[in-house]
Formats: sequence, structure tokens, C-alpha cells
Amino acid sequence: MIPAQVIEEIKYRNGIEEVIEGYVPLKRAGTNLVGLCPFHSEKTPSFTVFTGTKSFYCFGCGAAGDVISFIRRIENLDYVEAARFLARRAGITLPEEGNVHYDSGPRRDRILAMNRDAARFFHEALKKSRAGQAYLEKRGLGQALVRHFGIGFAENSFDSLASHLSSLGYTKEEMKVGFLCSVSKKNGRSYDIFRNRLMFPVIDVKGDIVAFGGRTVSEGKDEPKYINTSDTPVFNKRRNLFALNFAKNVCAEQMILCEGYMDVVSLHGAGFTSAVASCGTALTADQVRLMKKYTKSVVISYDADAAGQKAVDKAFGLFREVGLEARVLKVEGAKDPDEFIRKNGKEAFSRLLTGSRTRFDFLFSSVLARYDTTTADGRIKAAADMAAELCGISSEVEKDVCIRQVSERLEIPYESLKNDVKREAARRGGKEKREWEASVMRNAEGYGDRVNPDRLKSVGAAGAEDAILGILALYPERIPEVAEGELKLSPDDFVTAFNRRVYEKMLELGSGFDVGLLDDGFSTEEISRIVRNMTVRQSLTDNGMKVLSQCVEKLRKNREKKTATLEELIANKRAAKKTQESG
Ligand code: UTP
Ligand code: MN
Repeated sequence: MIPAQVIEEIKYRNGIEEVIEGYVPLKRAGTNLVGLCPFHSEKTPSFTVFTGTKSFYCFGCGAAGDVISFIRRIENLDYVEAARFLARRAGITLPEEGNVHYDSGPRRDRILAMNRDAARFFHEALKKSRAGQAYLEKRGLGQALVRHFGIGFAENSFDSLASHLSSLGYTKEEMKVGFLCSVSKKNGRSYDIFRNRLMFPVIDVKGDIVAFGGRTVSEGKDEPKYINTSDTPVFNKRRNLFALNFAKNVCAEQMILCEGYMDVVSLHGAGFTSAVASCGTALTADQVRLMKKYTKSVVISYDADAAGQKAVDKAFGLFREVGLEARVLKVEGAKDPDEFIRKNGKEAFSRLLTGSRTRFDFLFSSVLARYDTTTADGRIKAAADMAAELCGISSEVEKDVCIRQVSERLEIPYESLKNDVKREAARRGGKEKREWEASVMRNAEGYGDRVNPDRLKSVGAAGAEDAILGILALYPERIPEVAEGELKLSPDDFVTAFNRRVYEKMLELGSGFDVGLLDDGFSTEEISRIVRNMTVRQSLTDNGMKVLSQCVEKLRKNREKKTATLEELIANKRAAKKTQESG
């Protein structure tokens, strides 16, 4: 773990305003700064940076934290990586770089080294494998491309990788946690997970091999077409993109998003080196956020089948949610971009790219395909479907252009369509507001509180705890006195497990408590909650300690009340029994 003084130094030398300003344009609002939240899509700024407490808080989505948790979130890093990132930014050299110790399970650097060794092993095996070479031939994959991507081959053998890795000194545990080998229940031996498969290494933007995708070469057999590394200490499939390591250097203007490993490899081979794909999952919002860091706009290039088109629809939703511009291209006469390029060549694919369409065009043509627009009824239904879509367009100019287009194509008067869109927007606005209010109510009552699910046990006590922890986070120098002085606040006073855990951490760190010291033991959501509790109490400047002692009192009363009712219950029962016996 990184020592507390070093964390302090890292935070001191990385001013939260400067760091955040590198990602989010901020405007001054009094002593604080505001901007558009990078963690959800919004039009009016609710993301606030508090210079006093060196924290941020989004009133829209609840994201909150200090400069380290900001980096954890926005760069998708774990605690130690985020701290190192900021250390580097400030020119601080950390002791024992690359040798961070993890108490739980194998170390990340061991797994990364093991992945590298495995990739080398697969790559060498491909050179020698007849089945592998035959498959390359069949798919038209040339040597240059194979070398560029580091493609390899996992032989159809029980444990050739396992014994190779073990000869290099990796343990069974490391191979298992790294998702390369499993342990046989029968004889306890390690065996290879990937067998008889073409192996695509997944390389992250730092150049580390974090995962593999393995495509079977024995078509038609009763086994999955792909096996993908599932989550490991170095890999989260929802947050990585295949080939981003190459694409990141050329994709500033435009990135191409495909469904499959093979599509990406083909596209890179044809010179479209800004192509990426999600690795064995449907696209996630985290992946879209990752793209947003590197590019201004994305062309979705999914398979031509119905599943692919449905996925396009979903993807457009995510792009809008995150606020990244996206278009879609239509692969025609081939099932996917890979096949298209092989059949028609790269110029033809370039033409597809230039002809890519917006979300509006994509939806409009699918609506047009759904109804018979030669009838009035069909046109009205199509217009109704489009009104729902049109009201989601945020730019007024763009919206107007699209309304005109629909009105012309469907031969419906412009003004009446425009009114429909307005009405739909109002209806939705009302619905959204009601949903938002309902969610605020639910949160206030503790329903659906994922961070502190115990809130329901006692809403009053949980509220008092939140206040106590918020104030202590603001004035950590008071922690020892609150714990040992007159108040003698102990972890046992806490009703909810989450808040108790936070308080225990406070006792451990004492007056040196700082949100920046909450490492991987606390998730970014949990840190958000702690900072939110702190932020909303910033205005208590003078009477913070008074409020705190009142809250401790309230918390204890709350407990007493419970015991009292229990005692009363017993007393009542006894009394009832006595009257029965005597009567
Ligand atoms: P495809 O079936 O389109 O695969 O699935 P592909 O990459 O184009 O391969 P070829 O051209 O048929 O050989 C698209 C992606 O979906 C995931 C993989 O990431 C794949 O690249 N997938 C597919 C799986 O994770 N598991 C599967 O069994 C199938
Ligand atoms: Mn495919």
C-alpha cells in the first residue's frame, strides 16, 4: 500500500481544479466551480468542484469524491493505479514502482507477466500448428496481420499451456485467477481453458495484455464459438475494447465500432486502423465513456443480421446517454464488415463510411419499413413513432431539420407534426420529472440504497449516522476526541453496517483521515456517499460539533427506544402471564 504521507503529497501537488479542468470545462460559481458532469449526460451543469474541501459532487447523478476517486472513475483505474497516475502527473517517484503488494490473491503484475508469457507461447505455437495455419489460410489472414495483433494458437491439448506456465514458475492459483487454466476436480491438476482456438490477445491502452479471446477452429462442434477471458484482477470486460491500443493513436476524429474480433482484424488489415470491438459482451456505457476519451465520433459497423441491427438500436441509446456523437453504416451483401471487405475491397468500405447515417436516419428507415406508408393509417402511425424519437433530439436546429424531413416524406403538414413533437416532449418531461421525484423519495426512504442497504432498518438512525460521518470527514482532527472524549462514540453505536465500517476506518486513520486514503476497500460509489455526506454539511461551519453531539444523542435514543420497547414487551408478557395464573 502507498503510505499516507505519499498520498497526502500526491493530493497536495495535484490540485483538484486543475486536474478536473483537464477533463471538464469548469466555470466559477462563487467559491466553487461548476461544469457538465462527465459521468452522465446533462445539459445544465450540476457537477460541482468544492475548492474548500477539495472534493467534487454531482447533484444530478450523485458521483462524488476527491481528486483520486475522480481519476479512478474517469480513467477506469483502481486505487493504486489512480494514485500512481497522479504521482506521475506531479513528477513524484513512488518507491518500488511496479511492485505494489496486494493482500488478497495473486498480484496484478504477476498476472500481466503471465499473460505476456502465454501470448508468446500461443504465438509460437501458431507458427508450428498445421490446424492453425490452415485456419489462417481459410480466413485469409496474412503473416503481417498475425504478427501485428500477436495472434496465436491454443493447441488441442489437456495442459500444454499449464505445464509451460508452471515451468516458468507460475502457480496453479495464478493460472486460475488469471483465467488461463482451471483445476480438475478429479485429480487436482491444472488444465488449459483455451483449446483448439485461434487466440486474440486483448491489449489495453498501456500496452499490457489483459485478456484473450479464443475462436474455435473446429467449426460445427458442440462448443462455444468464442471463449473470452472473464473478469480477473487485471481485466473487466465491460470496460475494455479490443484493439483500442492501436486505434487510440489514430481515432481522434472518428472511431469504428464492430461486433467481432475478426471484423476488427480485417479492417485494420485494410487500413482502417481506428476500428475497435467490445470483447465478448454487448456494448456497455463504460465502453462508450472510454471511447469518448479518445474520439469525437463513432461509426457503428455491426453485422447485417437482425441481431446486429437490434444491437445498433441499443448502442445508439448508450451513445446518447453518454453524449458521444455516433453514426451507423449499413453492410450490404455480406454478413459482417470482415466478409464485406474480403468481397468488395477497401474502397467499397470507404464508401460505406462516407455514406454512414445518423441515428435519426437509421430509425426513420426502420419505421418506414415497418408501416405501409401508401395508406393514411400507416403514415399516421409512422409519424407517431417518429414524434417520440424526434423529441429526444437536443439541438433545436437539428430537430427542426428532421421534423421537416419526416413531414415531407410522410406528407404530413410540418406544423402539425411539430405540435405532436412538442406534446410528446411535454408528456415525457412530466413523466421524467415524476420518475425522478419517485427515485428521490425512494432514496430518502432508503429503498434501493445499494451503498447502505441497512438504511431501512432505521431511517432516523441512518440519517443521524450520515450527519456524524459527514461532519467528521470535514473535521477529521476531531475524530480522536469524539471517540475517546465525553461522547465516547463507538462503532457499536452505529446501526447500519456500512456507516459502522466507515467509522471504523475513521478510528483507524484518526485525525489523519482523508477520503484519499480510502483505497480499494471502498468502491467509488461508497466513496461518493461519504463525500456527499460531507459536502451537504459544508455550510455548518461553526456549529458542526454541536450538530454532531445532537446526532450522537439521537442515535443513542434511537437504540434505547428499541431496547425499551423490547423490555416493555417482556414486562407486558410477564404481567399477562401473572394475571392468567392468578385468575
Ligand atoms: P460473431 O459470431 O460475429 O464472430 O460474434 P466474429 O468475430 O465475426 O467471427 P467469425 O467471423 O464468425 O469467425 C461477434 C463477437 O461476439 C462475441 C465475440 O466477441 C465475437 O467476436 N462472441 C461470439 C462471443 O463472445 N461468444 C460466442 O460464442 C460468439
Ligand atoms: Mn461476425
